[in-house]
Amino acid sequence: MTSPGPSSRADLPEWRALAAHAASLEGITLRDLFAADRHRAERLAFEACGLFVDHAKQRLADSTLPLLVQLARGCGLREQIDAMFAGGRINATENRAVLHVALRAPRGMRLEVDGHDVVPDVHAVLDRMAAFCDGVRQGEWHGHTGRPIRNVVNIGIGGSDLGPVMAFTALRHYADRGLTFRFVSNVDGTDFAEAVHDLDPAETLFIVCSKTFTTQETLANARTARSWTLAALRDEAAVARHFVAVSTNAAEVAAFGIDTTTMFGFWDWVGGRYSMDSAIGLSTMLAIGPEQFQEMLAGFRAMDEHFRSAGFERNLPVLHGLVAVWNTTFLGAHTIAVLPYDQYLSRFPAYLQQLAMESNGKRVTLGGRAIDDYQTCPVYWGEPGTNGQHSFYQLIHQGTRIIPCDFIGFIQSLQPLGRHHDLLMANCFAQAEALAFGKTEAEVRGDGVSEPLVAHKTFPGDRPSSMIVGERLTPRLLGSLVALYEHAVFTAGAIWDVNPFDQWGVELGKVLATRIAPELEASVEPALTHHDGSTAALIRRYRAGRSR
Ligand code: F6P
Repeated sequence: MTSPGPSSRADLPEWRALAAHAASLEGITLRDLFAADRHRAERLAFEACGLFVDHAKQRLADSTLPLLVQLARGCGLREQIDAMFAGGRINATENRAVLHVALRAPRGMRLEVDGHDVVPDVHAVLDRMAAFCDGVRQGEWHGHTGRPIRNVVNIGIGGSDLGPVMAFTALRHYADRGLTFRFVSNVDGTDFAEAVHDLDPAETLFIVCSKTFTTQETLANARTARSWTLAALRDEAAVARHFVAVSTNAAEVAAFGIDTTTMFGFWDWVGGRYSMDSAIGLSTMLAIGPEQFQEMLAGFRAMDEHFRSAGFERNLPVLHGLVAVWNTTFLGAHTIAVLPYDQYLSRFPAYLQQLAMESNGKRVTLGGRAIDDYQTCPVYWGEPGTNGQHSFYQLIHQGTRIIPCDFIGFIQSLQPLGRHHDLLMANCFAQAEALAFGKTEAEVRGDGVSEPLVAHKTFPGDRPSSMIVGERLTPRLLGSLVALYEHAVFTAGAIWDVNPFDQWGVELGKVLATRIAPELEASVEPALTHHDGSTAALIRRYRAGRSR
């Protein structure tokens, strides 16, 4: 596992050129950049797969994108894209291929892992999913007592939850309103209790989603779901009608007691956070139906094809990833705010957090070198507009930190009500404009503001953002939007020389929790000497209160 070339990306001549370029931009503002180039807005806006992406309000001078594209070439991005699509084991630390693009490959296309064409396998699962979803939606698949399924509860966490919740929320407009959907992820029993408190077990289907089928939270929730179901239906045979599983691990599914004939599989070459369009999307397909799910896959596929074939200079995911690298690694931003101006995308920032931060939140290179000479993944966060405007935007406008923003909006609303959509999008465009250009002291004085308040009412501007605009939020467009970010994350990972497809950083906490749980529950006072003083005291305090 050694990476070729210089030991650090920062030693590449292309990297050094960009670092020098960033320094040369000191003091040059977005106002200056716009004043110098009347065609900037056209030059820095790009369009593909139904998405218009405007980077004009980023701190990009004439040569910035060309230099970033040269860096991408110098980092071997082309070769890495080709290796991914060729089924290469680019997830080197887990010795796995990375082929989520095969999940949306059309029938007849060949994508191979170790010489095996995986596309027929993908379509076999999609066909089984479609038959099952049609059965449930048409009432042919019914509960143990013969009642129709009216409620679907997805149990899963991380990629087995965030994608399904985000997609269901985003595509609710297209969903069968006769079915109620709930999502349970947290091991906190409150999550399960509140999700089912008004549901009838005889009409409830649980989808237990877990790539590994060993995840503590998901198995705890699935066990509780089984007890809840059996307490009402009083027959073990009911499990077969009320539980289906989505996993790569048939043995564990069977060991849990779910019949593998009602298991929908996927493969170790699909990362959890890249799995919403695999069988993990079963709840999505139940909600919107197989045809609309296929539309979503078509949107993913269009962006995959664009990513694979378009020149880097106009390649949406490549440019998006490079702009993120530019802002964080070269201009020093710590976070990126994701601000969808669409209520249906309310869970998109949370989804993106796992996608970006579990992928690129790494501190060693693929070759195992500690990265001490540049910053990798920023913190992604956000909330839908306009709500965020009335909470945290103050800091984005006038705080001491620069927070690049991704605005996301649509030309047409799925819920056209009076002036609402015009007001929504007016706010979206206004925020980006205000952030970029601000309001100078002179302008504030010109408004007649009294001298002591001038500094307070001045907006420094020069706060970068990208604007992503689609016609309307359709399943196809959602697929393209998610794929845009998937491949942007891949691009940034390639520049940072990290492995975006492992997640070793989640392991230590899991191991320690497994050790602490029996210490909390033990009837005899456990020896806690292996813990630090703080943790031992917390365990003692919890134990004392637990038995009260
Ligand atoms: O702990 C992190 C993680 O492994 C994520 O990568 C994954 O999406 C999540 O847990 C759930 O894993 P699984 O689908 O195997 O239950």
